[in-house]
Amino acid sequence: MVDLSVRIGDLTLQNPVTPASGSFSWEYNDVIDLNRLGALVAKTICREFRWGNPTPRMAETEAGIIQSIGLPGKGIEYFMEHIVPEYARFKPPLVVSCSADNIEDFAALAEELSKSDDVAVVEANISCPTRNLTGQNFAMHEGYTRDCIQAMREKTKKPLWVKLSPNAGDMVSVAMAAEEAGADCLVIANTFLSLKIRTDNFRPALGNKFGGLVSPALKPIVLRMVYQVAKAVKIPIIGIGGVTCAEDVVEYMLAGASAVGIGYAAFRNPTALVTIIEDLEKWCDARGIKKVSELIGAVKDDDMELDTLVAASKGV
Ligand SMILES: Cc1cc2nc3c(=O)[nH]c(=O)nc-3n(C[C@H](O)[C@H](O)[C@H](O)COP(=O)(O)O)c2cc1C
Repeated sequence: MVDLSVRIGDLTLQNPVTPASGSFSWEYNDVIDLNRLGALVAKTICREFRWGNPTPRMAETEAGIIQSIGLPGKGIEYFMEHIVPEYARFKPPLVVSCSADNIEDFAALAEELSKSDDVAVVEANISCPTRNLTGQNFAMHEGYTRDCIQAMREKTKKPLWVKLSPNAGDMVSVAMAAEEAGADCLVIANTFLSLKIRTDNFRPALGNKFGGLVSPALKPIVLRMVYQVAKAVKIPIIGIGGVTCAEDVVEYMLAGASAVGIGYAAFRNPTALVTIIEDLEKWCDARGIKKVSELIGAVKDDDMELDTLVAASKGV
């Protein structure tokens, strides 16, 4: 039987399937066995209490949903006291995502989260498009990313994962900046800044106007980003976007991801995470793959010319 374990820096995950932050909680244990997952990933926490964004916070589109939840939460103190112990009952490592609108708060969050042995990983959500009205965030720019991750790195010895934004013009430069600043892993990607306008009253469908689009239709775009970033950095990557089946996990791993995160698929079917792990095992066993980690970056494209002009000049 295939060995599904993967390494993310010093951390070993029992399999490459993890939930995505914000679309998961320990309460999923009522429907699936959380001990089967590669990791547990908590909803992004901020330093302060936040109400979140005005309603409506979610709207359907032809292909997926746009949402603008706005990071509601009771603040870091409540989180450490009440939420971390809920997750600590389970075996997979706990990844805690955190967010702020200034570097000082990001660094303080890294320091605070590092105090708990139950927190395995600090994930810097520098890419939330719904924190404010503009959709702006640190991951839009390599300079802001570098400064923010450097400041967090100084405050934590825990693995520091950095979630990037698909809305950045040049994600590869932002990814390289995060790596240089000390990130241990890149999480690619957060949601796509988007807008829906109601035709009955001419108003934006979401209370915060803009929202983040999630849809299986986005998978090829995020896959392309993972592929490009994997060619430019040495640290591991977790691919997140539109994963709905085991073949999607395989695709992300071939493109260079060491693991994946899953949000939307588990909304449609709460047991999806475990089904995907089981199907991945079957997929590998059917092909005699001994270790799933062999798939990482194994896309066969060495013979393919990346330069379009050179490729075109070769003719068909
Ligand atoms: C309702 C909802 C809430 C989310 N909240 C967060 C969050 O708190 N922090 C975060 O980093 N990403 C958040 N995300 C983004 C997801 O983690 C993930 O990046 C995105 O949904 C793409 O993955 P998917 O196609 O598997 O859903 C949220 C997504 C949804 C749908």
